[in-house]
Amino acid sequence: MKGIILAGGLGTRLHPLTKITNKHLLPIFDKPMVYYPLMTLVEAGIKDVMVVTGGNHAGEFLRLLGNGKDFGLKEIHYTYQIGESGIADALRLAEDFADGNKIVVILGDNLFESSIKRYVDKFEKQKEGAKILLKKVKNPERFGVVEFKKGKVVSIEEKPKQPKSKYAVTGVYMYDSKIFGFIRKLKKSRRGEYEITDINNMYLRKGILSCDILNGFWTDCGAFESLLKANMLIAKNKGLNLRGLL
Ligand code: DAU
Repeated sequence: MKGIILAGGLGTRLHPLTKITNKHLLPIFDKPMVYYPLMTLVEAGIKDVMVVTGGNHAGEFLRLLGNGKDFGLKEIHYTYQIGESGIADALRLAEDFADGNKIVVILGDNLFESSIKRYVDKFEKQKEGAKILLKKVKNPERFGVVEFKKGKVVSIEEKPKQPKSKYAVTGVYMYDSKIFGFIRKLKKSRRGEYEITDINNMYLRKGILSCDILNGFWTDCGAFESLLKANMLIAKNKGLNLRGLL
């Protein structure tokens, strides 16, 4: 299976920080943000990775990640997304890289405490389709949110005003090669983006979307509050006494 890290977009919610660097290069405790999704993929056994980036500071990724050997990768590929038309639009650029293989996609601003290896291994065995990973959250309206009926996911809504559950769709997605055909069929959403939630709903309607619930903490780092939270979670996880600091 191949891995794709999505690190495009302009990160406008973090201005002025993202005027002078790419969001995914900002520090999370002692490492640049993009290290974390990269390490999550490597730990899951992924050896071949593509980074999709964009914006004004894309060249810095090459300087930081080089040819990927320091991270235990066989190869690292880079591509550049013009504009910020959404997660599914960024993914479109990885079609040749995927080359018919199954892929595991991770958002460059998502941090996972626990390993995702067992989900990746499960998806390797899944005959076809896609897999998403869910996490119960306090503020589901900020995310893609699933609706359950009789214990099964029946729909996914992007940032609903009235969420139908507390289960958010996290930023790890696994797909078979049908994804690229689905992306070609997508239309832009009302907020002007090609939505990954629309892709997940396409798989769901075909009855080939599996879901698992994640262990451990999960957060994104897309806004000031979540950026701070991510720093605190990682620092705490590394044994820093936050109370003692303040
Ligand atoms: O964090 C999980 C959530 O991520 C999901 O629950 C949502 O369903 C999903 O839409 C997404 O929501 P956000 O609004 O938080 O996504 P955001 O626009 O912040 O983008 C997340 C990452 O995706 C970003 O760090 C880089 C990548 N991205 C995003 C866009 C819009 C791209 O590579 N290109 C893009 O054009």
